[in-house]
Amino acid sequence: MQQADARKRSLSGMRPTGKLHIGHLSVLENWVRMQEQYECFFFVANWHALTTAFEETESIRDSIREMALDWFSVGINPEKSTVFIQSEVKEHAELYLLLSMVTPLGWLERCPTYKDQIIQLGSQGKDISTHGFLGYPVLMAADILLYRADLVPVGEDQLPHLELSREIARRFNYLYHKKVFTEPQAYLAEVPLLPGVDGRKMSKSYNNYISISASSEEIQNKVKMMVTDPARIHKTDPGHPEVCIVNTYQKLYNAQEYGQIAEDCRRGQIGCVACKKRLASRLDAYLSPFREKRRSLESQPGQIEDILAEGARKARLEAEKMMGGVREAMRV
Ligand code: TRP
Ligand code: SF4
Repeated sequence: MQQADARKRSLSGMRPTGKLHIGHLSVLENWVRMQEQYECFFFVANWHALTTAFEETESIRDSIREMALDWFSVGINPEKSTVFIQSEVKEHAELYLLLSMVTPLGWLERCPTYKDQIIQLGSQGKDISTHGFLGYPVLMAADILLYRADLVPVGEDQLPHLELSREIARRFNYLYHKKVFTEPQAYLAEVPLLPGVDGRKMSKSYNNYISISASSEEIQNKVKMMVTDPARIHKTDPGHPEVCIVNTYQKLYNAQEYGQIAEDCRRGQIGCVACKKRLASRLDAYLSPFREKRRSLESQPGQIEDILAEGARKARLEAEKMMGGVREAMRV
């Protein structure tokens, strides 16, 4: 089949977790950059969310909307890319079913993320020994293979899943003597690790995060909460910026002043209050265009829904094409 677009195709998804925090920004900014070079598909993996959250689905629709708003506010552009919700394209489910027929159980049981999560969530009293959770990587393979994706931008934690997608693709092509699927490649971008304001991993459950859509006031408050060098009591005490969270952030969001501030800190020539003020103002300036874009999207009722509906329509065309080949190969 002739490809209308000669560019490589990229596909990635995220589970809807609601408003995103700045720890997600580098991943999103990578997606935004990829739009310039690749034919991109981005989708909200709401069925994947159900594998662990099937008992608490009340907030899932809101989470989708909030996450999509974040995506578009940082520059995911629906005119360049196809952006949609997984459950709006039912072919994901059909392909998931068919792939599950050819996927050996052992591949799934051996998957490291499966074992880890069962233990981790089990220790929190959550039982996810369901068929759906075991099948998580099969659904993910369906997402990817359905669009013939060449590249999949993912974090390292997702590499075992991607490997399974490749193995499933290979097995299918082998079983039905036809190169129906393309083996996708991981696209690993450098993602600097951004700690939460308390120094632990940035996470919703620790309330130590800064939202991408945070107001100026929220940014100031969160920066005030950041842990600094505990050895510093007076402004004139020599500081150790390398152990300070504020410094980690300055490096990322205030690259221009970062060197000077660290130097002044070491010499006891800048106080933590002043240092934090400088960071808060830079961070505020960094996030303010995103906030504005979000506000403009929010002010147009139905806008997000329309964009996602159009994305689903475009995605469905591609998915339907692929399913034609799959059904033919499998004779179903
Ligand atoms: N499992 C991914 C995550 O938790 C989300 C995801 C679902 C995904 N389907 C995908 C990512 C397909 C890339 C491609 O981050
Ligand atoms: Fe951290 Fe800045 Fe205080 Fe130094 S001056 S300890 S870098 S907050």
